[in-house]
Amino acid sequence: MLPELLKRNYKLNIWSAGCSHGAEPYSLAIILDEISPGHNHRILATDIDEGVMARATNGGPYSPNDTRNVSKVRLQKYFSESAGGYQVRDTLKNRVEFKHLNLIGEHFETGFDLIICRNVIIYFTEKAKNNLIERFCRSIKDKGVLFLGATETLAVAPGRGLERLGICFYQKETINIRELAPLRVPVHV
Ligand SMILES: C[S@@+](CC[C@H](N)C(=O)[O-])C[C@H]1O[C@@H](n2cnc3c(N)ncnc32)[C@H](O)[C@@H]1O
Repeated sequence: MLPELLKRNYKLNIWSAGCSHGAEPYSLAIILDEISPGHNHRILATDIDEGVMARATNGGPYSPNDTRNVSKVRLQKYFSESAGGYQVRDTLKNRVEFKHLNLIGEHFETGFDLIICRNVIIYFTEKAKNNLIERFCRSIKDKGVLFLGATETLAVAPGRGLERLGICFYQKETINIRELAPLRVPVHV
């Protein structure tokens, strides 16, 4: 998806929603550094859990098990060894903006080229999930992409905003937002 998105936008605005301890946004930052060096992309990473966010904002430590799929070359370039395993180097850490955010009940930004929300909505009720997907849809730019976990399949209908691109990927259709019914942010779901 990233090369496709880069064809349309030189500088991408990406959101990792439910980023946990940061593996997702840092992996993304590494890939973007490799495929588009020198571009100043924005990577926003949010989670509701302050505990996991602490490790994410600190850039680790990530254990040898956490980094088992990271190549030696990438480990050397993007991490330094620390007592607890590996620590993300500042050059990579500074590319990710971390924020506390509850996906249910809090407003969020718009204008994203890509929203990654993997293995988060499986824990939500059907009502909360549908509401969140519709709000994500409004937050993604036209032709932008939503990336969900492999088991979080959406039932998409033409004209409702999202078109399936692959097992985990959905692309925003060009729609007139005024045609969609008004939507409110739920407080209790
Ligand atoms: C299983 S982890 C997935 C982490 C990451 N996306 C991945 O796939 O590796 C689910 C994350 O969703 C977060 N989460 C659950 N409910 C949330 C909510 N209402 N708002 C924001 N984050 C939430 C949890 O704190 C947890 O870090």
